[in-house]
Amino acid sequence: MKFEFCREDWVQKPCDVLVVALDDDWAQRSEFQSLDQASSGWFRRVMQSGEVSTKPNKVSMLIAPTGIPAGVLCIVGTGNASQSACNTYFRAAGSAMKALASRQRSTVRFVGFGNSPLEIRAAIAGALVGSQGQDLYKSEKSTFAPEIVEWTGSNDAQIRAGEIIGESVNLARLMVNQPPNRMYPETFTDQAIEVANDAGFSIEVWDKQRLIEERCQALLAVARGSIRDPRLLILRHRGAPPDSEPLALVGKGVTFDSGGYSLKPTDGMLTMKCDMAGAATVLAIFNAIAKLNVRRNVVGVLGLVENLVSGDAFKLGDVLTARSGKTIEIHNTDAEGRLVLADCLDVALEEKPAQIIDFATLTGACVVALGNDVAGLMSNQTQFQVDVQSFTEKCGEYTWPLPMHSFYSEQIAGKVADIKNVGEGRWGGAITAAKFLEEFVQTKPWVHLDIAGPAFLDSAKPWCDAGGTGFLVRSFAEWLLA
Ligand code: BES
Ligand code: MN
Ligand code: ZN
Repeated sequence: MKFEFCREDWVQKPCDVLVVALDDDWAQRSEFQSLDQASSGWFRRVMQSGEVSTKPNKVSMLIAPTGIPAGVLCIVGTGNASQSACNTYFRAAGSAMKALASRQRSTVRFVGFGNSPLEIRAAIAGALVGSQGQDLYKSEKSTFAPEIVEWTGSNDAQIRAGEIIGESVNLARLMVNQPPNRMYPETFTDQAIEVANDAGFSIEVWDKQRLIEERCQALLAVARGSIRDPRLLILRHRGAPPDSEPLALVGKGVTFDSGGYSLKPTDGMLTMKCDMAGAATVLAIFNAIAKLNVRRNVVGVLGLVENLVSGDAFKLGDVLTARSGKTIEIHNTDAEGRLVLADCLDVALEEKPAQIIDFATLTGACVVALGNDVAGLMSNQTQFQVDVQSFTEKCGEYTWPLPMHSFYSEQIAGKVADIKNVGEGRWGGAITAAKFLEEFVQTKPWVHLDIAGPAFLDSAKPWCDAGGTGFLVRSFAEWLLA
């Protein structure tokens, strides 16, 4: 799939499919007027018939449109214009592209998607997301990306940036969608090295031996139940002078979470290949910022393990010494993500970062609290938290704060060790998990994003196939670009 800027008059230039976004106020739009004129009133009659819905993400295919040199005129609704934003255009472009991707197409032209550069990049990313499905291992493919996608109302540089961001979102989705018999710490590492070489950032790999030398005993404890050795990856993007403090991005990379001896039931375990989505998010953000030549130093720390059961797996009641020196008693082996992150955060601190952001499919409790479309946002610094919330919202990806009062920490006080890896009972589980992580960031400004809900779709949306979503890749690529 190639993205190009359409320099000519979009209504006169031939194409296979002309995709036009229209809102509830369609009669006022210049796109409507151009189509109406070119078709000598045919398009007005179509719209007045009421058969074409402008409700958000409704796609209508009009075959052989009168007077318009396109095989298909595809109208996608954007609803109420006053609410239009990145989210609207991302979803509308994704919905149109996903509908068109059921067949092979040569030239598809998108018109009317977004006003600001941020909105246009979101729409381009949406089109890319709509063009990629989870049919990775089907003998007959069901998703076809068009050969050429033309974009109007923009320029070459803008389109290229949107394309890089969209491809990065799809990279995160592809990582998550690979099944756990193919995606494990070693294969994640192989793929990450390829991404790093292609995008041009550096990558350091810690194998099991190095992890032992580095005293990453919390991460290693989780990994012990699996015959697949763990890895820790350190990614480095150098876009500013060496003395400029980096931003650190940390990702949970549990390539499969069975729960360990605190075994998950089948239903809860089925989709646990998604438990490396945090690590995939960070890798994908690096792909974007390296290709966009972001003028910042950024370091990424990814903890890759598989949480399984074996004669050597970690047990309930075990006491671990984390890399930081803190001791942890294990009350539930299914609360494994925070153990992996404890050591990753400690490694991140050594990079002397200005700030730390971690991404993790950390708790089911967060999904209970906020549902599937909003990530939990927890922090030790109010201003940083407010900045992240408002920026992600502007990008059309929603995060929402949960409280971090100090009394929550009483719940993770240990009996024989410094802390334990779960709270008292299950109430406030997303927060007690965050309070556990807070023990490992010292006083650095830190934001924790619990993406357990939005990282993975159990069933398809009009704009995105089921499976990994690449949630927050777009927001943080934009955050670093801004
Ligand atoms: N990976 C899960 C969290 C999760 C749940 C991610 C649903 C995606 C969808 C995590 O490791 C976990 O099992 N958390 C436990 C914590 C509990 C034992 C304190 C949970 O949420 O039940
Ligand atoms: Mn778990
Ligand atoms: Zn997990």
